[in-house]
Amino acid sequence: MHRILIAEPIADEGLAHLVDAADVDVKSTITRQDLLAIIDQYDALIVRSATKVDAELIAAGTRLRVIGRAGTGVDNIDVESATRHGIIVVNAPASNSVAVAELAIGLILSLARHLPQAHAHVAAGGWSRAKFMGREVRGKTLGLIGFGRIGAEVARRARALEMDVIAYDPIVSTERAQQLGVTLASVDDVLAKSDYVSLHVPLVDSTRHLINASRLKLMKSGAVIINAARGGVIDEQALAEAIAAGQIAGAAIDAYEKEPPVNSPLLGDPRIITIPHLGASTVEAQAMTGVDVAQGVLDALDGRSPRYAVNAPYIAPEDVGLVTPYTTLAKSLGKMCIGIIKEPITRYEFVYAGELATTSTGPLRIALLQGLLSGVSEQRITAINAPIIAKERGLRFSETTLPEVENYAGMLELRAHTASGVRVFSGTVLRDKPYVVELDGYWVTFEPVGSLLFTYHRDRPGMIGRVGTLLGAGDVNISSMQVGRLAPREQSLMVLTLDDFVPAEVVASLERESHIERAVALVL
Ligand code: NAD
Ligand code: MLT
Repeated sequence: MHRILIAEPIADEGLAHLVDAADVDVKSTITRQDLLAIIDQYDALIVRSATKVDAELIAAGTRLRVIGRAGTGVDNIDVESATRHGIIVVNAPASNSVAVAELAIGLILSLARHLPQAHAHVAAGGWSRAKFMGREVRGKTLGLIGFGRIGAEVARRARALEMDVIAYDPIVSTERAQQLGVTLASVDDVLAKSDYVSLHVPLVDSTRHLINASRLKLMKSGAVIINAARGGVIDEQALAEAIAAGQIAGAAIDAYEKEPPVNSPLLGDPRIITIPHLGASTVEAQAMTGVDVAQGVLDALDGRSPRYAVNAPYIAPEDVGLVTPYTTLAKSLGKMCIGIIKEPITRYEFVYAGELATTSTGPLRIALLQGLLSGVSEQRITAINAPIIAKERGLRFSETTLPEVENYAGMLELRAHTASGVRVFSGTVLRDKPYVVELDGYWVTFEPVGSLLFTYHRDRPGMIGRVGTLLGAGDVNISSMQVGRLAPREQSLMVLTLDDFVPAEVVASLERESHIERAVALVL
């Protein structure tokens, strides 16, 4: 059974999803030291935003196959390091968008009407209405920086409040913005024109201190800023100074550079509303997040393609049925190619033919690389790190798609270029099962699973019997056998599928036979 460690609280709905399928340990108050000490016992780790899943923790997690982030931002996870170790990272990005958007609108209204300050005033026995004169948000301009899932939900709600919405996001099209009644502008224009600026970008290198002293100077003097994204997006010192100097009117902050924000310059100024990272803290969002991350973790552990994978190849939902058995075939073709060819391979060609020509071929490329590399690396090779390792090792390949293929609906071909010529390994999928149809130039048909034996030999009477006898002597049971040959009594290839592993001494005894040139035993 898979072992899953949950290192921060997730909703009961998510937990229920996991306990039926895995052995789950919930240790939501675990210290970093204890986490480092036990992480090697787990296949999966689930965290929220407080646990720093850095290179040290990832290296200690020698058994880890998946890291689940119960939420959106993955800035607390060293995704690059996880990728290098072949660990898939999944998150739950769609489940808390509305919760964060509603919070951002709440903060806009709180700034407009001084709600937290007014509440504190009355709670302390005060009753001054003049002190808390507010402004309507209707007709005011809201500037969004980052117009992805959350930005779009904020825009919808702000439009309902009759605000004008402008946005800066380098990848959003004008059409998409228009559909939501939003006008796109440059980041400087958004800052200069908005009464309210709300941030909805991820924390990445290009957004770190995106809002700094010089950008704050562009804002209108009565404007305010809302940050329910990530702390590092704003230079906190610069913001505190801009508000203290009266350059802008105030701010509402949900996320901080350091959490909790001990000694933050943002604390203590009554013009700055500070709340403890509450964006995703709704019952509804937490339930959905828990279920989404649990499903993603189980999918990754069971070899399915998770819906929200941060660092894994994407297969369009409509292509999953077609592509999945071909990825199994691709790994097998790669392993057989490397297991059989012993001369230097200068480059590879990956050919996607027939029904594969119009599908997502990215996962097939990755599976071919995974198969080619897994027999030649001590590192654990997965779909996540195979492309990086192939690049590091200088593995050269090209790709071709052919719309037509004879006899089969689709064909995946791996061509290895060597000094002696091009050596071809190809296969297809029949009734959802992968089959090899050409092995190193010989026409054969077999399922590439389990223990296999290949013999390159001269076609002579008695050869099949001889191979059977030697395998029998080594207590290896044969489940199927076929021969591909170029011409009678010429060079041939025997393919045997076996119930047992072939010991090295049996391979050696086969190779001692006068008409057997080579014998190769592989386990797929
Ligand atoms: P998303 O990926 O759907 O949208 C992010 C958008 O930011 C993308 O469209 C991207 O193009 C844009 N972007 C990236 N760099 C930019 C830049 N330099 N300038 C302008 N736009 C840029 O993500 P989302 O679901 O909308 O979430 C956004 C962020 O909100 C998350 O990354 C996370 O850090 C934060 N978040 C916070 C909470 C919370 O509790 N406060 C909860 C969820 C998410
Ligand atoms: C997120 O990115 O989803 C948020 O920070 C929410 C959280 O982890 O609580």
